[in-house]
Amino acid sequence: MARQIDEDITDVGSTDVSRETPADVSRETGQSVSQTPAEVTQGAGLVLRPDSTEEDTPIGAAAARATRVQHPGGESLPRPDHCRIITVANQKGGVGKTTSTVNLAAALALHNITVLVVDLDPQGNASTALGVPHHSGTPSIYEVLLGEMPLRAAIQTSTHSENLLCVPATIDLAGAEIELVSLVAREGRLKRALDAKVLEELGVDFVLIDCPPSLGLLTVNALVAAPEVLIPIQCEYYALEGLGQLLSNIELVQAHLNPELHVSTILLTMYDGRTRLADQVVEEVRNHFGDVVLQTMIPRSVKVSEAPGYGQTVLSYDPGSRGAMSYLDAGREFGARGDITLNPSVSVPDEVPASPSSSSQERSREGFANDQGERR
Ligand SMILES: Nc1ncnc2c1ncn2[C@@H]1O[C@H](COP(=O)(O)OP(=O)(O)O)[C@@H](O)[C@H]1O
Ligand SMILES: [Mg+2]
Repeated sequence: MARQIDEDITDVGSTDVSRETPADVSRETGQSVSQTPAEVTQGAGLVLRPDSTEEDTPIGAAAARATRVQHPGGESLPRPDHCRIITVANQKGGVGKTTSTVNLAAALALHNITVLVVDLDPQGNASTALGVPHHSGTPSIYEVLLGEMPLRAAIQTSTHSENLLCVPATIDLAGAEIELVSLVAREGRLKRALDAKVLEELGVDFVLIDCPPSLGLLTVNALVAAPEVLIPIQCEYYALEGLGQLLSNIELVQAHLNPELHVSTILLTMYDGRTRLADQVVEEVRNHFGDVVLQTMIPRSVKVSEAPGYGQTVLSYDPGSRGAMSYLDAGREFGARGDITLNPSVSVPDEVPASPSSSSQERSREGFANDQGERR
C-alpha cells in the first residue's frame, strides 16, 4: 500500500496533464484535491469523507484503474487483416526498446490480440520480463537463426497471458553476430525463419522483434524480416543523437534488402513532466517526424523499471500505475491506427534541443555532427 502511494507521488510526467497543473489538482485524475501526501500516509492511510466514494482516494482510484487495465474488454481492438511484423530498434542502449516491446505486447494481448515477441538481444531482458525461461540450452532464437531448429519449436507462452508468445534469447546469441557472418544469406535468416504459415497457424496478429543496442547483423536481420520499424526515443538529452545513423541504415536495408521497410511508429519514452528539456525533445521529435509519433508518451516511472526484476511487465506488476496506463494507451493507439509510413523526405534535425548545460550541449552537437558525417 505504501509502495503504491510512493509511486503516485514519485511518478511524474503524463500524457494528459501538463507541468503547469496547479498544485491542488491531482495529476492522476485532473480533479481538485486537498489531500496532502502527509494526510494520505497518516495512520492506516485514509480518512474517507462522508460523501466520498472509493475512487476519491488514491488507493481506491488505483484499484479502479487496475481493474480497468486488467479487463479492458469494452474497448476491443480489431485484429489486423494480416500479421504485422514490427522491429523495435534504436542502436542506443537504455532508451526503452525492451520495455516498450514487452509492455506494448502485453497491452495488445489484454485486448485479445495474439503477439509473438522475438527476443533478439543476447541479454534476454524481454524473455525475463515475459516470465519465459532463457538459460543456456533453452531452445531459442539462436538455434532458429542458425537453422538448427524451426521457429515453432522455440516458441514459449508467457506466464502472463495465453495471447503472449515469445521466442527467447539465451546468452548463446552473443556469438551469433560472428557465427552468422560465414552463413549463406546471413541477413535474411530471421525473415526466412518467420514462416508465414506457422504464424498463421498459431493465430499470431503481431510480431514484435526486440533488437540489441547495435547496428550489427542481428539488427540487420530484424530490419530485413519486418516491413515496419518502431523507434523508441527517450525524452532526454542526446535523444536524437545516433538517429541519423539508424535512419540511414534503414534506408540502406530498404534500398538493397527489403523494399517494404519503413518507420511506422515513434514512441516517446521516459518523459519527465518536470523538466523543460523533456518538452523540448517532444516538440523537436513531433516537428520532425509528424504523424508517426504516437500521441501517447510513456512517463518515467518507478514501477516500469521495477517490473522486470519480478519477471513481469508493468501491466502485470502494477496495473493501476501510471506506467501501466500509459503502455495500455500506447498499445491501443498503436494497434488501432494501423501501419503508417514516415514521409521519406524527413531528415533528422541539425541539432539536439537546448540543454541547461552549454558544455554538454557542445558535446552533443559534436556527437550529432559525427553521425551526420557517417551518413555521407
Ligand atoms: N518509462 C520508464 N520509466 C522508468 N524507467 C524505465 C522506463 N522505461 C525503461 N526504463 C528502465 O530503463 C532501463 C533501460 O530500458 P530498456 O527497455 O532495457 O532499454 P533498451 O532495451 O533500449 O536498452 C531499464 O532499466 C528499464 O527498466
Ligand atoms: Mg533491450
